[in-house]
Amino acid sequence: MTRPVLIAPSILSADFARLGGEVRAIDAAGADWIHFDVMDGHFVPNISIGPGVLKAIRPHTTKPIDVHLMISPVDAYLDAFAEAGADHMTVHPEAGPHIHRTVQRIAGLGCKAGVVLNPGTPAKMLDYLIDDVDLVLVMSVNPGFGGQSFITSQLRKIEAIRRMIDKTGRDIWLQVDGGIDFATAPQAIAAGADVLVAGTATFRGGPGAYADNIARIRGPVAPAGGTAAA
Ligand code: DX5
Ligand code: ZN
Repeated sequence: MTRPVLIAPSILSADFARLGGEVRAIDAAGADWIHFDVMDGHFVPNISIGPGVLKAIRPHTTKPIDVHLMISPVDAYLDAFAEAGADHMTVHPEAGPHIHRTVQRIAGLGCKAGVVLNPGTPAKMLDYLIDDVDLVLVMSVNPGFGGQSFITSQLRKIEAIRRMIDKTGRDIWLQVDGGIDFATAPQAIAAGADVLVAGTATFRGGPGAYADNIARIRGPVAPAGGTAAA
């Protein structure tokens, strides 16, 4: 099945001094989800934002907030992010001893559950998880920082996971995160992605540019029953 491509701006590239306004601006500019990157300085070599900031931005949008947890251990913090207003939570298998249990716990909290694969993690990791997830996130950079370059070897992994998802017959989002720009977005979409995370490429140029940036990342929208115009 083909679904419209969704854009999830990563607020890691927003102006943190006026985060509420930035969230409202990307919402108005056409963002489908708000991507919220949580980093602990331990699982990844950078520290970002936590449940307090999530709670503070929650009233600024009604769009789904997509929480990408780059923290270890992760299980102890799931309740706090659910309470703060997360709609989706995605977790790395390397961030805890029992990824299957973690996925069940996220679903039990009423959130969509996703598994994230680092560039070095094989698609095979999903073999016994795919039936339990709502989304799969393929990292096209090593997690920790915005503004890195897209790792093209991940396109093959996206293709493999697309086949895996189609075999299940379930609606599972296939999301790609890292180095997505006007040039790499069409490659990720062609490989089978249907949700693109973009930090640098969304926020470049300031609020006046957000709508155009998001539209250009999304690319031409296919008319129902037809193919997209060039
Ligand atoms: C990296 C984060 C990404 C990052 C993407 O660890 O998970 O979401 O913010 O930033 P860009 O789009 O700049 O690569
Ligand atoms: Zn992310």
